[in-house]
Amino acid sequence: MKDQLVVVAGGGGFIGGSLVADLRNQGFKKIRAVDIKPFEQWYQISDDVENLSLDLNLKDNCETAAQGAYQIFNLAANMGGMGFIENNKALCMLSVLINTHMLQAARKSGVAKFFYSSSACVYNGDKQRDPDNPGLKEEDAYPALAEDGYGWEKLFSERMCRHFSEDFGLYTRVARFHNVYGPNGTWDGGREKAPAAICRKVIEAKLTGKHEITIWGTGHQTRSFMYIDDCVLGVQKIMNSNILEPINLGSSEMVSINQLVDLVEDIAGIKLNRTYDLGAPKGVNGRNSENTLIQKYLGWEPSIPLRTGLEKTYAWIYDQYVARAAGDVRASVVNLA
Ligand code: NAD
Ligand code: GDD
Repeated sequence: MKDQLVVVAGGGGFIGGSLVADLRNQGFKKIRAVDIKPFEQWYQISDDVENLSLDLNLKDNCETAAQGAYQIFNLAANMGGMGFIENNKALCMLSVLINTHMLQAARKSGVAKFFYSSSACVYNGDKQRDPDNPGLKEEDAYPALAEDGYGWEKLFSERMCRHFSEDFGLYTRVARFHNVYGPNGTWDGGREKAPAAICRKVIEAKLTGKHEITIWGTGHQTRSFMYIDDCVLGVQKIMNSNILEPINLGSSEMVSINQLVDLVEDIAGIKLNRTYDLGAPKGVNGRNSENTLIQKYLGWEPSIPLRTGLEKTYAWIYDQYVARAAGDVRASVVNLA
């Protein structure tokens, strides 16, 4: 299997780039990474991978991307944290073109396996009103009341995968990622998610000596955060499993955003005065991953402690912050050795 072509759509992004790096480390010989971004903006890039800069909204480009592939991981989407998805609902929904055309291209070129990255944003909003969330089970996506824009696109694309399997016999696997964080991801610019944003804000406060932080929302809202290594491993476990329905891929270590800030302050060795921006994008009040099903199928679930992952993420963002402040515009881009 390591001699057969693996395609990673969204390979210039956070999770896609980390998956490519992991596949290389495992000795996969033929990898094709595809992303709309120009190469200089990819988070991780390697010369021994076939890198293509293509807009996968377009069907012809999807056919080029899928040509000769044994398996395809579709991680390409126009997305970000709450700051992006709340203000760009049409752009988020247009990612439906990527998965639709990738599925058609996969079928046409006869790929053996297709993976789709869905999201916890498919879950019914009524089940996420209480910060003390008991954990979202896979069945909680229906009756549907997904996150406006982004969540509905993910739910539709999940179903598209299902029907390509049922009607055309295409092997598809779908994971619902819960908030993923780690090095080599977006940490500024508006698409960053809470872990990276909080690290950046704490670093800024530390380096400027202005010991203040603005937190979106009340700080009581809860989430669980999955470290990138768990995500990359889980994606491959799910791809190679017999799990036919969309399944949670997330940590079950739920924290409030205030607790997230506590942790990052502790890592940084400072305490900040907190201001709460109640008009900022907030999303749901409470979200956690319920992992009974993944445990049942795989005997495994994401388990890297938040503190461990945050220490690595903080250190990486610190380096990026310092490099960028020193004028390195390519800070955040890593050439894989
Ligand atoms: P990312 O933004 O870092 O990566 C997505 C990549 O897709 C980007 O590099 C982007 O340039 C590329 N892309 C966007 N439009 C494209 C197009 N038309 N053609 C080709 N490439 C295009 O995000 P990520 O965190 O790596 O997310 C990967 C996948 O996982 C996405 O589908 C996302 O919705 C899903 N997901 C991520 C999280 C998370 O917390 N990171 C949570 C739930 C779901
Ligand atoms: N981004 C961000 N930046 N969020 C902040 C900040 C900040 O400075 N301060 C507090 N928050 C709060 C947000 O208001 C939100 O309530 C919570 O932290 C989490 O925000 P995000 O990390 O941006 O997004 P999310 O968890 O609501 O949704 C993310 O995860 C989904 C999967 O679980 C998004 O990345 C979705 O795209 C993704 O599908």
